[in-house]
Amino acid sequence: MRIVDIITKKRDGNALSRAEIEFFVQGYVSGDVPDYQAAALCMAIFFRGMTPQETADLTEAMARSGAMLDLHDVAPFIVDKHSSGGVGDKTTLVVAPMVASLGVPVGKMSGRGLSFSGGTLDKLESIPGFRTDLSIAEFKAQLRDIGVVVAGQTHELAPADGKLYALRDVTGTVPSLPLIASSIMSKKIAAGADAIVLDVKVGRGAFVENLPDAVMLAELMAQLGQRLGRKITALLGDMSQPLGLAVGNALEVAEAIATLRGSGPADFRQHCVDVAGEMLLIAGSHRADDAEEGARRARAQAAATLDNGMAWAKFRQWVAAQGGDVACVDDPDRLPRAPIMRPLPAPRSGYVARLDAREVGYTVVELGGGRSRKGDPIDPAVGVVLETRGKAGARVEAGEPLLWVHARDVATCTAALARLAAAYTFSDTVIPAPPLVHRVIR
Ligand code: URA
Repeated sequence: MRIVDIITKKRDGNALSRAEIEFFVQGYVSGDVPDYQAAALCMAIFFRGMTPQETADLTEAMARSGAMLDLHDVAPFIVDKHSSGGVGDKTTLVVAPMVASLGVPVGKMSGRGLSFSGGTLDKLESIPGFRTDLSIAEFKAQLRDIGVVVAGQTHELAPADGKLYALRDVTGTVPSLPLIASSIMSKKIAAGADAIVLDVKVGRGAFVENLPDAVMLAELMAQLGQRLGRKITALLGDMSQPLGLAVGNALEVAEAIATLRGSGPADFRQHCVDVAGEMLLIAGSHRADDAEEGARRARAQAAATLDNGMAWAKFRQWVAAQGGDVACVDDPDRLPRAPIMRPLPAPRSGYVARLDAREVGYTVVELGGGRSRKGDPIDPAVGVVLETRGKAGARVEAGEPLLWVHARDVATCTAALARLAAAYTFSDTVIPAPPLVHRVIR
């Protein structure tokens, strides 16, 4: 078999066989297939798509590119959640300790920033000392000891996704349904979760912009999970504007901390309660004849962990277990901070009609908070923090700040302010804020 023939076959719109897909995945992980050929194949998949069978074969080949964890020796039932990626999406940082604090173990493999969307690993690593490169033994020991662990792909776990994810980030090949579905589900399957809540994001700040495509992605991932005996729930979460107020690694950690301590932006808190509630429900913590009544009780129990300090205590324990400096999370002013902070004043009075979340995401990448080339270092301190009045549906008076840019230098700050000014549209009449969740598929 030759990789060039596989690229050509896909370029011409033909379906690849299981053997061809395995040949590619194994060759890329071993280094026999170079980046430029893997990038060409990803681009061919982007344009030509994949059949459900090809997507399933790709998912299994990626999951099997490293070890497949069986966690039942450390916990009887593991839940996981995964977002398909969105601007300001720091949900994992809050829901993992919420759910774990109620005795439901959460073992999770996360990703880095991808294109305009940040990544959980980059966010966690903005806490000084926090390690995400855990060995399998460390992953299991932590899950057993404290009931929560989040790690990245290593050479041991789903290494094919680790390499392809970094390559897609910088080759314009992220927004492809089969590539997103196989990337997410290969990690989930390799990391041994029994039940997975998928937070499928839809809108300008997501890789899928319209609801029908998001439903298709959710159904594709549900089928992939069910083939391998996993329980799946999918939430279709709105991403027309950033989630919460903070976008940027350390800034998002600070917002997650505020939320864990019982404050934080209302939309973000509500989203965490919804996702954590679904995780409790899928773990079987709330059986009820009426599914809606079970969901309501699960959400109430999840919300209580934010108000009674249980989720916060579990978060501190989790940070300490992965080597993070707990003093920095106790006092978020000690997290990395950018030297320059400037406001964007509203150009007129009126209602915010729209803030293009994708533009906010790209602005943060340009400030240094994301990558333009594979393996680039990122600046954890930079980003954007919106004012509540800077979000869709809010009333604003001319000259009031809509948001604040946190930058490393004046030039990048000025460019960011100009780009963000163009991302806003205003209206003279009230524009209703979009719903947080469009649909739940259980
Ligand atoms: N999250 C992932 O893990 N992979 C993708 O491709 C997109 C979001």
